[in-house]
Amino acid sequence: MSARYGNSYVAHGVPGERSRLGTLEAAFDPATVEVLESLSLPEKAGCLDLGAGAGSIAAWLADHRPLGRVVATDTDTRFLTFPPGAPVRVLRHDVVTEDFPPASFDLVHARALLFHLPEREKVLARAAQWVRPGGWLVVEDLTVRPVDDSPHDLLRKITKAGEELHRTTMGSDMRWADSLPDRLRANGLQDVRSRFTPGVIGDGSATDAFWTATFEQSISAQLALGTVSPEDVEAMRALHRSPGFRDVGVAMVTACGRRP
Ligand SMILES: C[S@@+](CC[C@H](N)C(=O)[O-])C[C@H]1O[C@@H](n2cnc3c(N)ncnc32)[C@H](O)[C@@H]1O
Repeated sequence: MSARYGNSYVAHGVPGERSRLGTLEAAFDPATVEVLESLSLPEKAGCLDLGAGAGSIAAWLADHRPLGRVVATDTDTRFLTFPPGAPVRVLRHDVVTEDFPPASFDLVHARALLFHLPEREKVLARAAQWVRPGGWLVVEDLTVRPVDDSPHDLLRKITKAGEELHRTTMGSDMRWADSLPDRLRANGLQDVRSRFTPGVIGDGSATDAFWTATFEQSISAQLALGTVSPEDVEAMRALHRSPGFRDVGVAMVTACGRRP
């Protein structure tokens, strides 16, 4: 699986990817942090951040649980750098093929990771087992569902093309997030709750910056797949900068549950 992600238009080696991950963090860290702050975790919590990307959530956990320990994993760890002395261990780890012992962590977190993995159901079941009894699993993934109701035909077309690009190149499911709370319950988690963070576009917001960075970075892959034309791309750029344009892009679903 990592070969699929690692060869995609969002691989870490693609120019602009570090900056694009920064836009994802700026757009969705506030919602993630709000959920993490609402969880009861011990002072010395052991935390695992799977597919940690550029590491903002692992860094936040290290700042807020300085007596604990954080393990930040990724198949490509080049962006995972932390200040000296931060209680973070960076681990090159493929969540599809590599394990942790059962009941190893008070918190297991994965954002914008599982929806990309064709093996997402099995990974979710395994990740739930890595949580200690009484600890929390927090899974967050992106969904394109809000765009179904967009009044802009072109945005719906571009979004469908993006969904298709992700599905064919990586096996991603950009609607799986919609059923996350049920999936957590099905894996035996309790006190399940969820939060929906819309991705507004056209307003110069942090979610708009994430949408724009992702759209621009995807264009050559989209054109190669043939699901959008150069005219579509230009028309989308023009729509996006037209005065008064506002719509919804991808949104984040954050679901958490406690292991009994
Ligand atoms: C969209 S990024 C999200 C990064 C971070 N979680 C965030 O939300 O800011 C997905 C991350 O998952 C990593 N990844 C992809 N496949 C993986 C796998 N099989 N095991 C671990 N990490 C993986 C990628 O390298 C990338 O850093």
